[in-house]
Amino acid sequence: MYQHDVLVIGAGLAGMRAALAAQQAGADTAIITKVTPVRSHSNAAQGGINAALTHLGDDWHEHAYETVKGSDYLGDQDAIEILAQDAGRSIIELEHMGVIFSRGPDGKLGTRHFGGQQRARTFYVADITGAAILHVLFEQILKAKTRVYEEWFVTSLIMEDGECRGVVAMEIKSGKLEVITAKAVILATGGCGRVFEPSTNGLIVTGDGMGLAYNAGAPLMDMEMTQFHPTTLKNNGILMTEAARGEGGYLLNSKGERFMEKYAPTFKELASRDVVSRSEQTEINEGRGIDGCVLLDLRHLGREAIETKLAYINEIAIDYMGFSLADKPIPVRPGYHYIMGGIKTNVDGLTKIPGLYAAGETACVSVHGGNRLGANSLLDTVVFGRRSGEHAAQMVKSKPAPKVSEARVQQDEKHIKALLDRPANGDSVAKIRLDMGNAMTENVQVFRNEQGMKTALADIKKTQERYKKVAVGNKGKVFNTSLIFALELGFMVDLAEVIVAGALARKESRGAHARTDFPDRDDVNWMKHTLAYNTENGPKLDYLPVVFTQWEPKVRSY
Ligand code: FUM
Repeated sequence: MYQHDVLVIGAGLAGMRAALAAQQAGADTAIITKVTPVRSHSNAAQGGINAALTHLGDDWHEHAYETVKGSDYLGDQDAIEILAQDAGRSIIELEHMGVIFSRGPDGKLGTRHFGGQQRARTFYVADITGAAILHVLFEQILKAKTRVYEEWFVTSLIMEDGECRGVVAMEIKSGKLEVITAKAVILATGGCGRVFEPSTNGLIVTGDGMGLAYNAGAPLMDMEMTQFHPTTLKNNGILMTEAARGEGGYLLNSKGERFMEKYAPTFKELASRDVVSRSEQTEINEGRGIDGCVLLDLRHLGREAIETKLAYINEIAIDYMGFSLADKPIPVRPGYHYIMGGIKTNVDGLTKIPGLYAAGETACVSVHGGNRLGANSLLDTVVFGRRSGEHAAQMVKSKPAPKVSEARVQQDEKHIKALLDRPANGDSVAKIRLDMGNAMTENVQVFRNEQGMKTALADIKKTQERYKKVAVGNKGKVFNTSLIFALELGFMVDLAEVIVAGALARKESRGAHARTDFPDRDDVNWMKHTLAYNTENGPKLDYLPVVFTQWEPKVRSY
């Protein structure tokens, strides 16, 4: 049995920022992560992090307004104000920690232009911004001597008397289950991106935190709001950063037309992501695509700019397509990237369950509403990661250490034993996971409608039934990654159901949720958040008003 004041699950940007804040505020803090910290998915974030720095002539109000507009007015404006107001100092803080941000020609912090915003306010490190910040935060964690349970997998939250008192977790190396008690648990496990196939998300992005919270009774919010990034690579869905368009790249259809001029005459390729993805999909659906894609053309930027500012995606182009972005336009299409929804929290990261916090993509504060602006997600992780850590550290000061029986592991041991003892005559984890991902991609895509989503729901229910019989080939204890994959899949099939249920119920189009059978935004009936609670019969939906402070809903145009 292990014991801490604050236990953070996940070692991406939100998790490490939360842990650092809690530790610095005096709480005995630990991180538990299923992978080595620097393999967390934040590593894959490419383009940058937004902030309105006043000495550069920018204004947080403008950033906040553009975030509200980008969210299609579903974002909570009190939370968005905090996000935008706290952004400047967060960038400076990261810089002081050691993040070597790319510089402008004057040697000062450089910015690039990201979508849905009138000005360049995205700070960046070439096209490896997430990796750069992640490594620096890990250095800070090492410096702070925060304990890291590396390669441990959380199997359940310990819930007693309606509050969270820690976790049951498996040390993957030995297969042993342990109780780790904590006065506060912060979930920072990222999104659930592999519910869709393909996806820009790493294979580890399986919604574990969302699943743990949902199973423990916390509501998930706005899960139908799933973002399709406009530029993912043909065939495998790898992210080709929005920075490519920010640096001046064009999107072309099969006739060689810069079609975004038609859909977003002012912002063109730098309209918000939902708008660009819908425009691309329309071109493809109307026969002006090329083999299910459009083209991203960067040739006019020149080889030097491509090989310095966009070096990583250029390498991806060479490795996967066999040519440099300086030589040929590359085929891209909208692909699953991000979930705006997540575990409902307040602005300090607290969920509905006392003692349980969430931050980063796993949480829904909600600052992204119906559609997130590019480069606001890294910002969300550091702003709300820090706030969660600070709040949790204050909260635990007056709280006695929870007393939890070691026997608490038995329930999870029984579940795992049953999984391992099952005869191998059911489906494999890989097959169910792929079928789930394909069902979601086929019918819960950029454009959705009732018939398609009903098909997806029926398919997902089938995967849930098949999951009950899933077999794990490897029966061993040591590094049984087949078992981990099976446990992850258990979270994912339920999250897929929540996504589809929320999407079917929301009879309007807003942000990334574009329904061909309800093509208009309906502020009278649907200016509200969806909440999903776990019940024996699947998700039970409820609704919550959106928080407005200063921006009235308007028609969005770019
Ligand atoms: O395109 C990108 O670099 C992705 C950034 C983001 O999702 O914020």
